[in-house]
Amino acid sequence: MRIDIVTIFPEFFSVLDVSLLGKARQSGLLELGVHDLRDFTHDRHRTVDDTPYGGGAGMVMKPEPWGEALDALITPASTVIFPSPAGERFTQSIARELAEHPHLVFGCGRYEGIDQRVVENTAGLAAVREISLGDYVLNGGEVASLAMIEAIARLVPGMVGNPESLDEESHEDGLLEYPSYTKPAVWRGHEVPPVLLSGNHGAIAAWRHEQQVQRTRRVRPDLLD
Ligand code: ADE
Repeated sequence: MRIDIVTIFPEFFSVLDVSLLGKARQSGLLELGVHDLRDFTHDRHRTVDDTPYGGGAGMVMKPEPWGEALDALITPASTVIFPSPAGERFTQSIARELAEHPHLVFGCGRYEGIDQRVVENTAGLAAVREISLGDYVLNGGEVASLAMIEAIARLVPGMVGNPESLDEESHEDGLLEYPSYTKPAVWRGHEVPPVLLSGNHGAIAAWRHEQQVQRTRRVRPDLLD
């Protein structure tokens, strides 16, 4: 999989050098390109924003640098993601879907967002999604892109050491995951649930499923509707 990111803060993405994603890059499983939007400006001040038509607070990102940057990166086979609090909400199922795409491009807006014509124009050149990380507002698309990239990349075959560990996670079966325990069997007076020490795999599976249902009902009843 190849991922390209367009941003005015390339340094945000240095964390992609570490951990699983860093390993995936070293092994060639994941190719990553981080591009500074200001490299696609032509004025002395490398201007990327301007005041909004119609008035209002804040600044809007100008279309021209975005157009040039995306022209340089995308092909008809690319999927371009614009993180935005006004987008569809990101879910595990969107992560699964995007993990199948060979080339993702993340366009990180700042300020009050990117001139909407960039989204329209890009939609004529490639697949486009406007996606929100959740119902809250961040200062820009960088942190949202990082979260989405981690969620997507770990689903690419070969990325996570033990693929079975992916099947039993929260949201994979529509329920939150069951609680996990390791040694010692008693810690500060707290005992590991005895069924987990029983060696009875049927009983363990049933107990875990029941824990998933109880936890989901308590914390996220909306998932059960
Ligand atoms: N940019 C600002 N807020 C955001 C959010 N909630 N999701 C995605 N991108 C954003």
